[in-house]
Amino acid sequence: MSRIFSGIQPSGDLHVGNYLGAVKNWVALQHQFESFFCIVNYHAIIAPYEPADLRRRTHDMAVGLLAAGIDPTVATLYVQSQVPEHTELAWILNTITPLGELERQTQFKDKASRQEQVMAGLLNYPVLQAADILLYRADVVPVGEDQVQHLELSRVVARNWNARFSPDTPFFPEPQPKLTPTRRLVGLDGQAKMSKSLGNTIGLLETPDAIWDKLRPAVTDPARQRKTDPGNPDLCPIIYQLHRAFSPEGTVREVEENCRGAKWGCIDCKKSLLTNLVAELTPIRERATELQSHPERVTEALDIGAAKARVIAHQTLTEVKNKMGLPLA
Ligand code: TYM
Repeated sequence: MSRIFSGIQPSGDLHVGNYLGAVKNWVALQHQFESFFCIVNYHAIIAPYEPADLRRRTHDMAVGLLAAGIDPTVATLYVQSQVPEHTELAWILNTITPLGELERQTQFKDKASRQEQVMAGLLNYPVLQAADILLYRADVVPVGEDQVQHLELSRVVARNWNARFSPDTPFFPEPQPKLTPTRRLVGLDGQAKMSKSLGNTIGLLETPDAIWDKLRPAVTDPARQRKTDPGNPDLCPIIYQLHRAFSPEGTVREVEENCRGAKWGCIDCKKSLLTNLVAELTPIRERATELQSHPERVTEALDIGAAKARVIAHQTLTEVKNKMGLPLA
C-alpha cells in the first residue's frame, strides 16, 4: 500500500477552502492509502502567537478534522511537535538544500516582502515541510495548488539526499502532489484565495444563518447587475465554484442554464447553494459539537496517532543517520 502524507496549520477552524482543496480528499484517500495527517504546529510558530491560543487552535483543528471524517482508527492523525523526528530530519535536510531554491519560493517572497524583520524560520519553512513528507517516505501528498511549489522543493531535497547518501537505490521517493477539482478556492471577496488570514472564508462549522449572511453579499458575475441580465457562470468567482463542489450534477446544470438564460437571480442561485452546502456541513458541525464536549477523546486520538507516527519516524531517521555516519544514541 502506498503512503500519503499531508499537513495543515493549526489555524483553528477549517474553512471551505482547505476542506475542498485538501481535507475532503484526505477523508476519501484514507481508505486507499496508508495515511498520515499532521497538524503542523512547528510551521505555525513562525508567525507571532500566544501560547494558550495556539494550544486551543491546535485542539480545534483536531476536532475539525475528526468531525470532517478523518477516522483515527484508519489514518494516523497527530500533532507535529509530538514527533521530534520532524525537526531533527529538517536540520539534516537543511544541509543539502540550496539557499537559492528557498529564496525563489513565491510564498517566502510574498511574506518576506510584507515583514520588517524576516526570521530564518520563514525561509526554512519548506525544508521542514519536506522533512514532514520524507520522514514517512510518502509517495503522494494531497494538497491544494498553493503547496505545489513546496512539493517541487521536496523532490529536489529527496533527489539531492539520495544522490549523496543512497546513490544505488534511492531511499526517499520523490513525492507527487494530488490535487482536487477545487485546487484553489477563491474567497468571498471574489479575488484572493480563500484564507483565514484574509478573513474571506466560510468556516466549516458555521451555522446556516452565519453562512447565509456571508453568501448573500458575495461577489458574482459583474455582468449581472439585474436579474434580467444574462450571466456566465464561469465568471462567477465563488458561487459557481461552490455549486460544482457541493451541488448534485443536475443542480449544477440548472444553475448554468438559469444563469445564462437570466431566469434566476443571483439570490436564487445562492439559496440553492445554501441548501446543498448546509446538507453537507450540518453532520460535520454536529460531530464537532459532540467532540468539543469530550476533549479527552480528541487528545486520546492524537496520542494514539503520535505513537504510530513515531514508530515510522524513528525507523526512517535511524536509516538516515546510519547512511550519513551519524552515531545513534
Ligand atoms: P495550510 O494549512 O495553509 O492549508 C492546508 C491545506 O489546504 C489547502 N488549501 C486550499 N486549497 C484550495 N483552496 C484554498 N483556498 C485553500 N486554502 C488552503 C492547502 O493547499 C493545503 O493543502 N504548508 C502547508 C502545511 C504543511 C504541509 C506539509 C502540507 C506543512 N507540512 C507537508 C503537505 C505536506 C500549509 O500551510 O497548508
